[in-house]
Amino acid sequence: CGIVGYTGRRPAAGILVEGLRRLEYRGYDSAGVAVQCGPDLRAVKRVGRVSQLARALDQERLEGCCGVGHTRWATHGRPTEANAHPHAAGQGRIAVVHNGIIENFAELRAELEERGVRFASETDTETIAHLIDEAYEGDLLDAVRRATEQVVGSYGLAVACSDEPGAIVATRRDSPLIVARGQDGCYVASDAIAMLDATRDVVVLEDGQAARLTADALELFDEAGGAIDPVITHIGWDLEVAEKGGYPDFMLKEIHEQPRVIRDTLAGRLVGGRLQIDELDLSPEELNLIDRVCVIACGTSLHAGLVAKELIEGWARIPTEVEAASEFRYRNPIVTPSTLVVAVSQSGETADTLAAIRDARVKGARVFGITNVLGSPVARESDGVIYTKANKEIAVASTKSFLGQVTSLCLLALLLAQAKGKLRMNQIRMLFGELADTAEQVEWVLGREEAVREAAEACVGATSALFVGRGMGAAIAREGALKLKEISYLHAEAYPAGEMKHGPIALIDEGFPVIAVATRGPVYDKVVSNMQESRARGARVIAIATEGDEDIRAHADHVIYIPKVRDAFSAITASVPLQLLARRIAVLRGCDVDQPRNLAKSVTVE
Ligand code: G6P
Repeated sequence: CGIVGYTGRRPAAGILVEGLRRLEYRGYDSAGVAVQCGPDLRAVKRVGRVSQLARALDQERLEGCCGVGHTRWATHGRPTEANAHPHAAGQGRIAVVHNGIIENFAELRAELEERGVRFASETDTETIAHLIDEAYEGDLLDAVRRATEQVVGSYGLAVACSDEPGAIVATRRDSPLIVARGQDGCYVASDAIAMLDATRDVVVLEDGQAARLTADALELFDEAGGAIDPVITHIGWDLEVAEKGGYPDFMLKEIHEQPRVIRDTLAGRLVGGRLQIDELDLSPEELNLIDRVCVIACGTSLHAGLVAKELIEGWARIPTEVEAASEFRYRNPIVTPSTLVVAVSQSGETADTLAAIRDARVKGARVFGITNVLGSPVARESDGVIYTKANKEIAVASTKSFLGQVTSLCLLALLLAQAKGKLRMNQIRMLFGELADTAEQVEWVLGREEAVREAAEACVGATSALFVGRGMGAAIAREGALKLKEISYLHAEAYPAGEMKHGPIALIDEGFPVIAVATRGPVYDKVVSNMQESRARGARVIAIATEGDEDIRAHADHVIYIPKVRDAFSAITASVPLQLLARRIAVLRGCDVDQPRNLAKSVTVE
């Protein structure tokens, strides 16, 4: 979900809507704003996209220079207008927008109802609005503090009160919130992107801190209510990331940024012939003590973890497990002080991944984070962090972040191999050079979308598709299937190619699409046999194959070529045509590529 708030000298409604548009990628099933209009806080909410809210605001003009807004991804309660934020209490005296989850909301709600409070929605957020209203005795900051003291869970909050026109109070716990002072007023948002055209100098609120915003002042307070000085963070990237730059959608733009991501992620990592990742802050001796690696992540990041397993076991020979953070955190996993836990998260704020990190640290493990967001919770709570240099990713389906993660994990695997003495320095230098070359190879793939287009046209009428591969190819297949189902709503399943005969082959009939990762590598022949088995049963086979492999044409209906690379790096090159394929199929099916239904960019709730 996305939060935005503004108070200043300009009309608030337009600023809030523009902020929400930029945050829309984080959740978009309903949206709303509340603006201080004269003595009253007036709210307008709509189910659906921010554009629908904007149209409603053209009709119902909210004139006023202070307000809060929200774009929602439903957790408690269906996406209805009543459940959309802002939530009101005290006959509209209080307006609250909230990200996160209130775990004890059922108890709080029952207590409030016993005290005669009537609820207008099914949400957990409305309980906070009523708690603030109950606690309000003329000081909004104090009321917010007293209300949040009763709350168990996570929250990023922005609150307005018609008894204090022109003021917004913001506070957070386990959910990001940023405040800033621009030339014409003060801003609050769950992501700096919402305020970037007003200022690049922002304050990232810490857990428990609160801020009071007025047109002329931004005041910060610690958990006990004492005033504190702001620590300014300068945002390095600019608003271009929030524009499509001539591409029809963000996803395609971001796919095309991948060569740059690889180059930036590798820049400065090979110093004097040695790999250097200073951020990890472990001596070679400490690295050498690591006897097990656990990669924890969710979604696409989990698939980067599957690639990491191949690399770390292959080069550093350290046993590596990969697990969904949501499983890891509830399973009492075996983690010891000699385990290295690698937490992979684009946003750096996924609730399950954070919980898994905390659990691993309690058990004494070293935790490395791999994230795209500077100063994010994953970065802060890990012992060391590698930043993927993807820059902000807007499309909900992750592409450039995945490639940044895989590139970073290649570096980590090489570093572990260096520390364990499993690879010689000249081998590491050679592998690093080949890794760097993948940037150009990805460019090559991006220049050949025609083959992808043909394959996409062949799949567009299907209802289901199977992605297969072996070894590294099996990991790539998993990510290919996820991309397709995320954005085209076609059922897609990934399977290790050798396992097909134990089940999925039963699905195959005339024209059923089977997408096979069949690059030249140790298991090439095996995958080709699996393609033949599929074709013999009527499958329409699409092969991702190595440039120059003409033989493959005899076993596939469509071939998408990628340049020849070492198997270890095929995850980088072979993922790109699968991203393009998923996108093209989604476009042909008329889907919203950037904002697929039911999904959110970052899942900060369990
Ligand atoms: C959501 C997003 C995915 C992402 C996953 C993990 O499901 O839609 O694209 O892969 O969260 O997010 P993270 O930020 O932890 O990588």
